This record gives sequence, structure tokens and C-alpha cells, in this order.
Amino acid sequence: MIPESGASQQVFIAPSELSSKAHIPNLETYKELYAKSVENPEEFWKGLAKEFYWEKQPTGQFLDYNFDVTKGKIYIEWMKGGITNICYNVLDRNVKEKKLGDKIAFYWEGNKPGTSLKVTYNELLQNVCKCANVLREQGVKKGDRVSIYMPMIVELVVAMLACARIGAVHSVVFAGFSADSLCDRIIDSHCSLLITADGFCRGDKQINLKQLADEALNKCKEKNFPVTKCIVVKHLWKTEPSSNDVCAEGPSPLKRICQNLQTPWNAAIDMWWHELMEDASDQCEPEWCDAEDDLFILYTSGSTGKPKGVVHSIGGYMIFTATTFKYVFDYHPDDVYWCTADIGWITGHSYITYGPLANAATSVLFEGLPIYPDESRMWQIIDKYKVSKFYTAPTAIRLLMKYGDEPVKRHSRKSLKILGTVGEPINPEAWLWYYRVVGEERCPIVDTFWQTETGGHVMTPLPGATPLKPGSATLPFFGVVPSILNESGEELEGEAEGYLVFKQPWPSIMRSVYGNHPRFEKTYFRKFPGYYVTGDGCKRDKDGYYWITGRVDDMLNVSGHLLSTAEVESALVEHRAVAEAAVVSHPHAVKGECLYCFVTLKEGRKFSKTLEEELRKQVREKISPIATPDFIQYAPALPKTRSGKIMRRVLRKIARNEKDLGDTSTLADPAVVDQLFTSRCQMFNV
Ligand code: PRX
Repeated sequence: MIPESGASQQVFIAPSELSSKAHIPNLETYKELYAKSVENPEEFWKGLAKEFYWEKQPTGQFLDYNFDVTKGKIYIEWMKGGITNICYNVLDRNVKEKKLGDKIAFYWEGNKPGTSLKVTYNELLQNVCKCANVLREQGVKKGDRVSIYMPMIVELVVAMLACARIGAVHSVVFAGFSADSLCDRIIDSHCSLLITADGFCRGDKQINLKQLADEALNKCKEKNFPVTKCIVVKHLWKTEPSSNDVCAEGPSPLKRICQNLQTPWNAAIDMWWHELMEDASDQCEPEWCDAEDDLFILYTSGSTGKPKGVVHSIGGYMIFTATTFKYVFDYHPDDVYWCTADIGWITGHSYITYGPLANAATSVLFEGLPIYPDESRMWQIIDKYKVSKFYTAPTAIRLLMKYGDEPVKRHSRKSLKILGTVGEPINPEAWLWYYRVVGEERCPIVDTFWQTETGGHVMTPLPGATPLKPGSATLPFFGVVPSILNESGEELEGEAEGYLVFKQPWPSIMRSVYGNHPRFEKTYFRKFPGYYVTGDGCKRDKDGYYWITGRVDDMLNVSGHLLSTAEVESALVEHRAVAEAAVVSHPHAVKGECLYCFVTLKEGRKFSKTLEEELRKQVREKISPIATPDFIQYAPALPKTRSGKIMRRVLRKIARNEKDLGDTSTLADPAVVDQLFTSRCQMFNV
């Protein structure tokens, strides 16, 4: 790729060898197709929907929607009346119609080097059918919700697809979440069954997942929501050799053991996965579903502190994840693709499970950590499987960058063709390192902007077509119409900065917040009627390129994971010593942003290191280790307006030790600010 130096920005163009073979080989083709996709979205997506299997073709109105709250209920319907099954489309269609049963669907790479498996499309289909029969046997029916709390193992994909096969709605809860978080999510979505695993290892640390699952189920029971069925995958104890194993490293590569673990067991509820699977048939007729039936619920942080169950429906999600995967990663049948995200997040749902499988791709499914057992693990895996398309997060890039170029250069990486990032804005320095060192200046980087709510990439370069600018998510994907609004809701033209919104629906936009449609309308459509509001700020430059500037609401992005300040505040105030808490975001060199918490204490309580540790533990246990605060500052009082609203803008400045506070005329007691600067100095010993 040749950098074209502009006055203020560098532009990078894909090598012609890559462009000439790309599905979208140049910007003109992109522009032509983009124009078609937004002028007549129905025709555009109709063409793509034809590639899928429909038990009954969508013959009615292809798209129907209302984006304007002032005109009534918000709804989005794509292909309603079309009857299909997404599991059939991502498995049976590949095996039966395309005859790709022997193709590898996943190379599973365990936490410890030397543990790996390969799974073909045939094997995946057989296992999914068995699991689907198991679920039916357990009484799970179309529309029922199933919670899945599992590590990054093939059984997780099997469980998701088994739900989809029988029309059940999966709700995957990231295995890094606490028992409290799992309990809240199970209750909110009224799940009837939980699928989990005995445990797993992250680096040298063993996580006894079943124990956490049990705690969650006990909490559910206390809250009058008894879950009576729990299926447990024996992962840590799996010692039987499998003929599928592809790994020849280490003395005992087939052992997936970290250490002995006594799995806590409640015979009234718990069932071993392998025992149920053994007796199940590998033939299973799919449940034929409407394109608009629910496919899954995935929780994402909400600014009120209570996570929102984002609901995605089957048909639109299927065609959009399949299409974005194909074009954004310029997928070709001989690719080996690797997305390092956890399936517990939307990236894993769309770009490990559904998008790649819909394209019959071969993917790496990685259980471990980027720097375990050493900092060259990622590059070693890339060489091992000859990965050609690699998709990761800026936080991982920044972490790996800290170790310098040597660990990268220890491995050849010559198979790499395209690199991707997702989750947060990538700083140009990290972008350039990724481009120069990892990709050796021959791999375009697709900086994909999207959200749990959007289901798939909405702003992204296409690798063979879009000239790249480090830090910019560039241009909209097909069918996506972005706009930038000012505070009064006016659309800004040309170079501009403001709120990023979308003007019309693309197929995989979320359909609702589970059990709370008014919250869906309020969060995304009320502020600017007629638009979907992303909650992100954005700049458009003179070339029409979009640059995401970060959240404009009370959310923050820690290592690519969205958290709401309210969620963390409520975990802090649950501590008996805390009277009030305010949480703001603070820049962090690796995580992007981190949590800076101000706490005021109840009368008679004293701030101490012990209390600080207790508070950190409390947040970890209530939410997840991801939410662990980096800074906790004692605040004798919080800066408030006369009406009692906490001035977070002022707190953000104090956290950064920036003395220029801007307009503080609304501050009820300006002395509070001085006190906070003083207690900050004490905290940092300056
Ligand atoms: O703030 C944006 C940021 O992540 C948010 C969405 O988070 P979540 O729903 O957890 O999904 C993350 C994975 C899709 C967005 O509102 N974000 C995501 N990708 C980018 C980004 N910010 C800048 N550039 C990106 N490429």
C-alpha cells in the first residue's frame, strides 16, 4: 500500500493485487452499489436474500418501518411473512446444497498452546442437531429463552445454533460477567434453561464457571425466579482423546485440563451435556420461523444503569451479517479468518458465529489470551493456521504494541491479507503500528464502526476499494444512511461535527429492548424524531469521511466494552460505607478509557486502602472484572448544580487534573471543587 501524503492526513491505498481480486475492486463500484442500496433498499436486499434458503419466499412488503416517534410506535420489519431458519442457512445449506460438509468450520485453539480441535461443517451440523433434540427433549419450544454462559469453546456455537434451529431465543451472557449480572439477565429475559460449563482457564487462572452459575441460580431462586434446568459442558475435565485433534505439540495435547476441579452439582437441576448428547439423534427438522421472529437477546449497558436486552430478529440479521462479512473482509473460500472477540459480545455473535458460517468460512475460535503464555501468541496462531483475515480490538493492539516489534517479527505472518478493528476509536499511532508492523504495509485495515444495536458493520472501509485514513471508520456500508446533527437536530452538511444518527433502517438494526419497547423508543428515537441515534459523536471531513469521536452519553468504553457510569455508581453505593458516588471516564493508554470514581461516605465512615479494595471487589462482583475502577477518590462532597444535579463535566476535569473548568456559574458550592483538587493531590501523593 502506498501512503499518499495529504496536508493533514495520510491516505493508504490497497495494493492493486488485492484490489483487482476483491469483490468491490474500487471506489466507483462501491459508490454505484451504495447509491443503489440507499435509493432502493428493497431491491438491493431482495437480490441478496435470494442466496438464502426460504421455506416460503418473502413475497409481501419487503421493508416496512416507522422511525418517527411523533407518528406512532417505532417498528422495523424486513421480509415479514418470509419463512426460514438461520441455522439451516448457515449449516445445512453449506453441507447439502454447497457440498461443503468436509470443510473446516472452526479450528479451536485452547488457552494452553498444544490444545486444539478442528470441526468440520458436517460435525458441526450433527452436533447442533443433537443439541437441538436435547433442548426439545427438555421442553424448550419456539420463542422460549435460553441463557448461555460459556467460555470460548465449540459447544458455545453449538448451543447458539441449536437454539436457532428450534426457534428458541438465545441470550448469551459473557463468561466474564459476575453471578449477579447473570442472575439479572436470566430474570429479565425469563430464561427457562441455562447452558454452562464446569470451568475454564484464562492464562494460568482457573475460573470455576459452574460455581458462578450456581450462585446466579441461587440468587434467581431468592428473587422468586427458579430455573429448573442447567446443562453443563465438561470442559476442564475432558481428557478423552478425540480423533479430531490437529495438534501435535506438547506431551499430552489432548488434555484440556488445568487442574482438578470438583464441579459443584445439584442433581435436581444439573445435567451433563455429554450424557444428554450421547443419546440424542443427529437428525433434527428445523423449526421454520418468520423472518421477523426473534433470534436472540444480547444485553448491553444502558445509561440508566440497568442493562438493555437488545433484540435481533432472524431474517434481517442473517442477510446483513452474511453480506457485511463477505464484503468487509473481502471473504474468499480459501481464507482462514480469525476474530479474537468473545462470543459473549455482539462481535462474536455476528462475526464468529453467524456471518462467517453463512459464508461457509473457516475460522479460528480462540479460548485464550493475547499474551499467554507469551506476547507472541497471536502471531504464532496466525502462522499455525495461516490466517488471512484477522479482526481484533484497538485495546489488544495497544497492549501488544507495548511489547515492541520483536514478538511480532518472531513469526512470519505472510498469510495475512486484511486486518480489522472494532470496539472503540483507534488512535492513529496504534493504527500505524498495526499497519506497518503487523501487516507489513500490505494489508488494508478495516476500522469497522458498529454497535450491539446495529447487529453488523454500519460504517466501514471496504478493503479493496476505500482509501484508508488512520483513525477513520471512513464511509457507510450498503444500505446505511448516516447523518450528523447539531444539538437542535438540524442535519449538518459537508465538514461538520455533531451527533451521529442514521436516517433509515438496514436489515440488522435491533427491533426492540426485550420486554421494554418504550425504552427502545426513548433511548434511540426520542432525542431526534425520525432518526436512529447512535449515542456517538462524529466528525465528517472534507472528503466525506466519518471519524467517530466517542460516546456523547453517560457511557464509557473500557477495552472496547461499553459500561454505563450509572451501573458502576449503583454498585458502589450498595456498599454500606458509601453515601454517594459519581463515576467518570479517564483516558488509559491500553484500555482506551478507564473508570475514575468519586465517593462520598456516610457519617462516621473513614476512607482507607481497605475500603478502596472493598469497593473494587464490590464492583467486580456486582458487574464484572472489566468494570473494576482504576481510580477511587474520596470526595468530601460532589460538585452539584443548585438543583442537585452532579456536574460530571467538572469531575472529568478534576480526574484529569485540568484546572480550566469552563463555566462553573451553575455550581452550588464552588468550594467543593477546591476540596476535590486537594484530595486528588493526596491520592496521588503530590
Ligand atoms: O462508541 C462506539 C464504539 O463502541 C460502541 C458500541 O459498543 P458495543 O455495543 O459494545 O459494540 C461493540 C462492538 C461492535 C459504539 O457506540 N465503537 C465500536 N466500534 C467502533 C467504535 N468507536 C469507534 N470506532 C469503531 N470502529
